[in-house]
This record gives sequence, structure tokens and C-alpha cells, in this order.
Amino acid sequence: MLPGSRRKSAPRLRLLVQGLFHRGSRPLHIVTFSVYNTAIAIHALATSTMADSTKPEHLNTSALGTRAYWDSAYTTERTNFALDPADEGTVWFSDAGAEERMLAFLESLADVDVLHKEADGEVAQGEEESDFALPTRFLDLGTGNGHLLFALREDGWEGEMVGVDYSAESVRLAEEIKASKGAEYEDVRFREFDILKGEAEKEWLGEGFDVVLDKGTFDAISLSDEKDAQGRRVAEGYREAVEKLVKRGGRFLITSCNWTEEEVKGWFEGSELEYEDRAEYPSFTFGGKTGSSVCTLCFKRR
Ligand SMILES: C[S@@+](CC[C@H](N)C(=O)[O-])C[C@H]1O[C@@H](n2cnc3c(N)ncnc32)[C@H](O)[C@@H]1O
Repeated sequence: MLPGSRRKSAPRLRLLVQGLFHRGSRPLHIVTFSVYNTAIAIHALATSTMADSTKPEHLNTSALGTRAYWDSAYTTERTNFALDPADEGTVWFSDAGAEERMLAFLESLADVDVLHKEADGEVAQGEEESDFALPTRFLDLGTGNGHLLFALREDGWEGEMVGVDYSAESVRLAEEIKASKGAEYEDVRFREFDILKGEAEKEWLGEGFDVVLDKGTFDAISLSDEKDAQGRRVAEGYREAVEKLVKRGGRFLITSCNWTEEEVKGWFEGSELEYEDRAEYPSFTFGGKTGSSVCTLCFKRR
């Protein structure tokens, strides 16, 4: 057994369990998942051996790291949505209020004019320098049902939004949900795109996005047993892939349940991304260590 592999199998189970309780938005499942998730998080906290900001060890692989798993999951969610338009599918980490915490964190950046919910300022006349700011552009990586982007729009963010996912069924589901909504959602766009293998086209990438979002996607990628051209687990190439999508000076906001805060820093702090801040979650203490079952960290691209 590899050093630390016992500790690593716990977080894998965390995402796996939510996968098993895939209709996770239903109350019974939320309760079941919450209890289990907290127990596993305590285990992870108690057995963590990782030094601060070192590169974390890999997780054990699982079906949640495969495209086939997600295609099948979103096929089911499309059927459910067709039968009941109120059922938009799983909102990942809803028991931890992750989406709300990400929204609140982004709002706090808008409050200090780092981000802009709508076009802001005056257009310059003649030679004068303009202080005009376009509304923040968002990219959601592994968008699933697109819920996070729809929630941002509902919250008054008016900028361009793109959701990408390697599952064609996810893109179909997100488009179907969008079609059931009002005209203000029309310019939320969804694309089939493999973050690790795709080459982003200028047409939708532009100069990069002001904010790139990830809720549960790196968690899923961390469970893949695929190797890249250099023979590494594909999770190793994720940071580099993300860096290319964030505009210089832009933000990468990631939420994870499979990795602790220090582990997320270990994965993403590097040449282009620097750790900036974190969203607050209720924490618990076990065996003298303090942590939470989900974390949301913000990195700024240099
Ligand atoms: C745990 S789900 C999270 C979905 C969504 N972000 C949410 O919070 O509801 C992980 C998502 O990542 C997508 N995904 C996994 N690997 C990917 C890759 N290499 N490129 C694009 N999407 C990927 C899956 O299809 C799935 O939709």
C-alpha cells in the first residue's frame, strides 16, 4: 500500500457516495450524504499527513473519473427533466451550500469593484483614458446542468457566460434547461469541450475569462485513471489547462470536497496562479485539527 493511500481512499468515497445518491437534491439523500460526508471529512482531517502546500498524492480511481459515467448520469437527468421540468438535476455540494458561498464570494469581489455585475463607468471622450468596465465574463468548467451559471444570471451578473463539459449529454441537458427559461438566459452558452484535451477557440475564449469556475470538476478529474502523453495521471495537467483559460489578472474559483484547502493550494499554486482568498464554511475540530467538508479557494492569475 502506498504511503497515505488509506487517507486518500476516504475523499474518493466522498464524491462516490454523492454519485451513488445521485438524486442528491432530494431531502433523504441530502441527510444521508451530509452525515456520511462529515464522517469522511473527519477521517480525512484526522489521518492527513500532507505537509503544507506540497503537491498532494493522487486519489484512488473510480467510475466518476470517466466520461461514460457522466454521459449516463446526464442521460438520466434529461429523462427526469423531460418528465418533470422542476427537476433540473443534481446541484453538487448543495448540502454544504457551496453554490451560495461561491455566489457570495463573487458578490464580495463586485462590492470592491474587482468584478462587475454590469457595465460600469463612463466611456472616455477623445484622448482621455476610459474607466469603463465591461461586465465580468464567466467560464464554468464541467458545467453539468449549468445551474451555477443560471444562478449567477439570476443574481444580476450580466456578462457573457460559457459553460463547458466533456459530456455531450450534459450540454444537451443544460441547453434544454436554458430553453425552458426566459430571454435573459439566452446568451448563456454551453459547449462540449474536454478541458484536458481541447484547444479553446478564440471565438469563445477571447483574451481569457475574468472568472473561471470549478465546482466538483477537478474532484471528478482526480478520480480518472487516464494517463497523459508524459505518462502522468491526467489530473496533473489540469492546472496548466486552467491557466490558459483565465485572463491575466482574472480569478479561478474552485470548490472541492475531495481535497483539503492545503491540498488545493498544492495543486494550483504555481507559475501563473497565486492563492488569493477563500470562502467561509462552518468548520469542525477533530483531534486538534480544524477543517470543513468542502472548501472554496480563489486564485488570481499573474
Ligand atoms: C461533480 S460534476 C460537477 C458538475 C457541476 N460543476 C456542478 O457543480 O453541478 C463533474 C463534472 O465535470 C465534468 N468533467 C469531468 N471531466 C471533464 C473534462 N476533462 N472536461 C470537461 N468536463 C469534465 C463531468 O462531465 C461533470 O459534469
